[in-house]
Amino acid sequence: MTALAQLSVAALDLDAIAAASGRVVVIVTPDGKLGLPARRINRLTKGALARFVESDGFETMKDGEAKDLAYPTGMEADAVQVVKLSNQASSALCRKAGAAIGAALGKADALVLPGSVKRVEELALGIAFKHYSFTDHKTLDEEVTVPSVTLAVTKPENVDLSTVTALAEGVFFTRDLVSEPANVLTTTEFAKRLVELESLGLKVEVFEEDRLAELGMNLLLSVGQGSVTPTKMVVMTWSEGGDEAPIALVGKGVVFDTGGISLKPGAGMEDMTMDMGGAGTVSGVMKSLALRKAPVNVVGLVGLVENMPDGQATRPGDVVKSMKGDTVEIINTDAEGRLVLADVLWYAQETFAPRAMVNLATLTGACVVALGHENAGVFSNDDAFCNGFLKAAEAEGEGAWRLPLGAGYDALIKSDVADMKNVGPRWGGAITAAQFLKRFVKDDVPWMHLDIAGVASVSTPTTLAPKGATGWGVLALNRMIDDMNAEMNKEG
Ligand code: BES
Ligand code: MN
Ligand code: ZN
Repeated sequence: MTALAQLSVAALDLDAIAAASGRVVVIVTPDGKLGLPARRINRLTKGALARFVESDGFETMKDGEAKDLAYPTGMEADAVQVVKLSNQASSALCRKAGAAIGAALGKADALVLPGSVKRVEELALGIAFKHYSFTDHKTLDEEVTVPSVTLAVTKPENVDLSTVTALAEGVFFTRDLVSEPANVLTTTEFAKRLVELESLGLKVEVFEEDRLAELGMNLLLSVGQGSVTPTKMVVMTWSEGGDEAPIALVGKGVVFDTGGISLKPGAGMEDMTMDMGGAGTVSGVMKSLALRKAPVNVVGLVGLVENMPDGQATRPGDVVKSMKGDTVEIINTDAEGRLVLADVLWYAQETFAPRAMVNLATLTGACVVALGHENAGVFSNDDAFCNGFLKAAEAEGEGAWRLPLGAGYDALIKSDVADMKNVGPRWGGAITAAQFLKRFVKDDVPWMHLDIAGVASVSTPTTLAPKGATGWGVLALNRMIDDMNAEMNKEG
């Protein structure tokens, strides 16, 4: 498990700056005017800070960027990190600046001097989110130390980091799950980690194969038939929102996707350890909701399964009956995510009659072809619901782009032998996958499908994450849930 940097808020004590060890971070506004803490650092360093601020080095820095002055004389610190940021900087810029601090942190403790910057929580969020590194399986020379980061401000009573911490814990939970190799994160281990969330007040129920068979969840079971790790569904319930119908979040949790009998090519197959990213995001959101004791009703459901080829595995051409009752001709066993989701979506609607439903999945390579790694694909049957999410995603800086649905696409998954087949032709593959899911959504349920194949794990750093697992969606969904709740309470 990856631990967050230890964040705390303290009253600004100018006299403590000289003796602070590790890193001292000072914010300087773009006009170059030094605030109180910066003036103290300047005095201690005999004018070095002012010289830097007057130099081209500072001039050419963009808002939210940072530079180190190493081994400053007159101070205990190993470095003074100068961050350029205006006092009224937007949330996004404050997060970017925080990320610059978090990225440079390493193992060192830090004293952060935000000066008159307004959005200290956003600064802290950037620090926490960017300071992530998955080292659970590395043999390290020294023990992993968790740095402590103290934000020293004039009015500490005005800064509350509890929400930031809850969000960061959720995102780290998602990232750890996505980063784990499949021999560690089996379905059994995944379910165990979710059951541990009970200590936060979530209700967690694990459905084993016999229960899933009784429920008729044959599509889900068909995906796991060739694997020795047992197929499971885990249902996490957070019900602190009175007696309103819940929002349902449904996640694809394929712990490894070989493609099954329709085996994937070898090159890059190791990336399919992240094919549980949808379930990872759902789990991270549930953890954050519980940690911040959100006054909402949300149920998170994940289908946990491994897609392996074997003598028992589903064959191309097999016909399987879904929990809904519709039959599916499985043309390609590598189009397994939609089979997992179909039954879990149906179970969610039958059991919880949700007022809205979102599913998340690393569903199609076609979505990555369309949108790259900048945006998740968004599909919905409800404009208002969808727009609410897009707004939340935009506010959180998480890329999301709506793609179409339509009868013409739906016609592409007609089957000669069953009610539908699980793949369409090559073109429009992200959309035909969404059409497949839509067949398992009741007409009166506002629904959204997020194809996160391109954004769950990336090979270059993003604003708030190092390369690797991003935790995309945890922030946007948290915000959307709060927005929908506020809207509902307003309506009364
Ligand atoms: N898990 C993959 C999709 C994927 C691709 C996720 C790249 C992340 C990165 C999914 O199960 C899959 O194999 N989809 C197939 C569908 C096809 C057979 C219709 C694909 O996209 O090739
Ligand atoms: Mn697949
Ligand atoms: Zn898959």
